Amino acid sequence: MSSRKLKVGVVGLAVGASHVKDYAKSDTVQEIVLCDVNESRLHEIGDKYNISKKYTDFDKMLKEEKLDAISVAVPNFLHMPFAIRAMEAGAHVLCEKHGEK
Ligand SMILES: NC(=O)c1ccc[n+]([C@@H]2O[C@H](COP(=O)([O-])OP(=O)(O)OC[C@H]3O[C@@H](n4cnc5c(N)ncnc54)[C@H](O)[C@@H]3O)[C@@H](O)[C@H]2O)c1
Repeated sequence: MSSRKLKVGVVGLAVGASHVKDYAKSDTVQEIVLCDVNESRLHEIGDKYNISKKYTDFDKMLKEEKLDAISVAVPNFLHMPFAIRAMEAGAHVLCEKHGEK
């Protein structure tokens, strides 16, 4: 198995911020890239974890970053289109539905 470290993206930074927290602590993660349409949330989480790569546009992030894996933590109705686009870009996808949001 490869020991290469991973470049991961997180889209949706409400509950997704807990994914950022765990990725930031992980020895297997080299770099984290953030995406949220809410710019103040994007900058708050970026500042908190010292992450400079930040996007408000998911497709732009997919186009510009070669991500190994993406946490899709946007509202449920966006799970399918976002997960499909992430997989089409060659990334593993972590996506968890909780409740009806
Ligand atoms: N809240 C929980 O405890 C919990 C636990 C497990 C899973 N989930 C799941 O995680 C997902 C998100 O839940 P939440 O509670 O964080 O929801 P939320 O609505 O509070 O937050 C969603 C985030 O996604 C962002 N967003 C919305 N549209 C976007 C877009 N087009 N591009 C980029 N960012 C966008 C919003 O700005 C917001 O920051 C849901 O599917 C939910 O079922 C939530």
